[in-house]
Amino acid sequence: MPERILSNRDLEGIVDTSDEWIMRRSGIKERRISSNKRKEKTGDLAIRASLRALEMAGVSPDKLDMIVVGTVTPDRQFPSVACTVQEALNANNAAAFDISAGCSGFLYALETVNNAIRSGTCGTALVIGAECLSTIVNWEDRGTCVLLADGAGATVVSSATEQGGILSSHLKSDGKLWELLYSSYGSSHLPETLMDMDQKPFFLKMNGNRLFKKAIECLCSISRDALRHNSLSSEEIDLVVPHQANIRIIQAMANNLDIPMDKVYTNLHKYGNTSSASIPIALDEANREGLLSKGDNVLLVSFGAGLTWGASIVRWSI
Ligand code: COA
Repeated sequence: MPERILSNRDLEGIVDTSDEWIMRRSGIKERRISSNKRKEKTGDLAIRASLRALEMAGVSPDKLDMIVVGTVTPDRQFPSVACTVQEALNANNAAAFDISAGCSGFLYALETVNNAIRSGTCGTALVIGAECLSTIVNWEDRGTCVLLADGAGATVVSSATEQGGILSSHLKSDGKLWELLYSSYGSSHLPETLMDMDQKPFFLKMNGNRLFKKAIECLCSISRDALRHNSLSSEEIDLVVPHQANIRIIQAMANNLDIPMDKVYTNLHKYGNTSSASIPIALDEANREGLLSKGDNVLLVSFGAGLTWGASIVRWSI
């Protein structure tokens, strides 16, 4: 996570909002924002997360066959953040590319790597979620700037002979609903006039109300698909690591699935919504807190811009 903390109280001095409103409507208390002074970009956060993941896994960069980054806020249009990470790690044997799937970017990346491993073309990979949403947020729009933040998380995924690992993944999309959450940053559609540029067309735009309802619907249905596919009941899930968008969305999903909140990991009060980085960050914190044991069934579930949504059930095998 970037070191710089932006609290709800700080936001009270930027837009017309209050700590009380943000906490009650979203569950977020503070978030991390990358430092302009240190020119901290998405790639820098991704590199730091990757180094920690490789250290924990005891894997050296030259063993990596693939680096895949889920992001909607790359350092530049191209080359990819994954190539920036590849260079920094000196991962000379790795293919590297980004995946754009909104807040579901991490689960899309994970399933891409899972399939590459299963097909035999990849042995070990880095799967990363990394974002600097603060660079596309309109800091005059109180409906979005209080929710979104920066961060990165990384996982090392490798082939194994033993049973377990990723039991199944389920990914969906509905492009008809793109206008619920989008940014025209890096658009191939140029504004007609410079005037349009002044309208700040590149900032992220969101219909929070409609997205809120759709998110609960998608999270519940995809989680049920994942449970059904693996003949698991909700009681057999040991930990849910959901995309950290809004505590009320997460509570509604848990309630609907009959999963008690003490089995649902949340850290959005500290970090806000970091899009595709939220699941790997939460998974790492849950792991470092000792909440994951060998054999546990872990449900990862997300939704985001696109719309995209997805779920993976992982049998923790380390
Ligand atoms: N501080 C104070 N008031 C705010 C505010 C803020 N930061 N943001 C919006 N408001 C106001 C609105 O202007 C509105 O005022 P009005 O009634 O006078 O028009 C009022 O609060 C209620 O707004 P509403 O949008 O109905 O609130 P809500 O209960 O739906 O909560 C969100 C708003 C954004 C927190 C909620 O819709 C949400 O979380 N949606 C999903 C967003 C999301 O997860 N996006 C990422 C997807 S990956």
